[in-house]
Amino acid sequence: MTNKWMTKKWIWLLLGLVGLVGLVGLVGLSSLWAGTARAGGWAVLTLERWPENVTAGEPFTVHYALRQHGNHLISGVEGTVTAVHDETGEKLNFAVQETNEAGRYEATLLLPTAGEWRWHIESFGRFTMPPLTVQAGTGTAVTASPSPFLSQVTTPNSWLFAAGGVITMVVAAVWWVRQRSRFAPMVALLGLTLCLAGFVLAPAADTVASATTSQPTTAQGETLFVAKGCISCHQHDAISYPDIQTNMGPDLTNHNVSPKFLRLWLRDPVQVRPATLMPNLELADDEIEALILFLQPH
Ligand code: HEC
Repeated sequence: MTNKWMTKKWIWLLLGLVGLVGLVGLVGLSSLWAGTARAGGWAVLTLERWPENVTAGEPFTVHYALRQHGNHLISGVEGTVTAVHDETGEKLNFAVQETNEAGRYEATLLLPTAGEWRWHIESFGRFTMPPLTVQAGTGTAVTASPSPFLSQVTTPNSWLFAAGGVITMVVAAVWWVRQRSRFAPMVALLGLTLCLAGFVLAPAADTVASATTSQPTTAQGETLFVAKGCISCHQHDAISYPDIQTNMGPDLTNHNVSPKFLRLWLRDPVQVRPATLMPNLELADDEIEALILFLQPH
């Protein structure tokens, strides 16, 4: 009798485990699904000015424009800016407000710690920004690490969360089977929450650039290629981007055209080719020069 009951228990435990694995799989799938569903209505996010000389503990405002399908400005979109300190893991969220001009948004950020921050804007989609170097409040600038521009850094956090969640759920299942504890389902729920949290914290690819000199640099151009949203429509081998890329425009790796042409093109593509699908992203002169440097075939 006891033996039979014991085997039954193990069958339940096994079933429970299979169910768990299935659940984790489903959660993973549904997040993939959400990603592709969103690809139907994609947007280009253009940061108005790359934030320079950001100092720890001092607020600064970022402005951006959102263009649905890369052309018309969309208004009424909610947004959040999320910043994570590279070393401490400190994570902050900032609310986005729409300005009086339709399709143009702003958020005021305050990053309390010097060093490198990874950040992204969630607004109609997810837009990972190149990392931001924050200087110490004392006036001594923190020198940016000379790491290669696009070193892929994956956050281990999401996997830690997921693994912790699974372990918690297994413990709860064992507890339930052994003692029928009323608390076991609660612990299982906690585990499930951890798992879900793990999938919400998506891993992010990373970009490293310092942009503090007044002369445009190739590194600035690389930063702007992401911050201005070029990356949403153009592939470039120097940059691996974690968010939606439409490849609507040509691959720009080793795109061999003259700086003179690029100057006209980036100022206003429609002036050059009236039927073009590339929008005028309202770039400033120094931004255009930096992008030209970056786009030069090496
Ligand atoms: C909404 C999508 C979109 C965005 C955003 C976008 N482009 Fe384009 N781009 C295109 C398309 C489409 C073409 C092909 C244009 C054509 O031939 O009419 C193009 C063409 C180009 C070309 C090639 C022009 C030529 O004929 O040689 C360059 C260079 C270029 N884009 C640079 C950029 C840069 C730099 C940015 C960011 C500041 C950017 N693009 C943003 C869609 C986009």
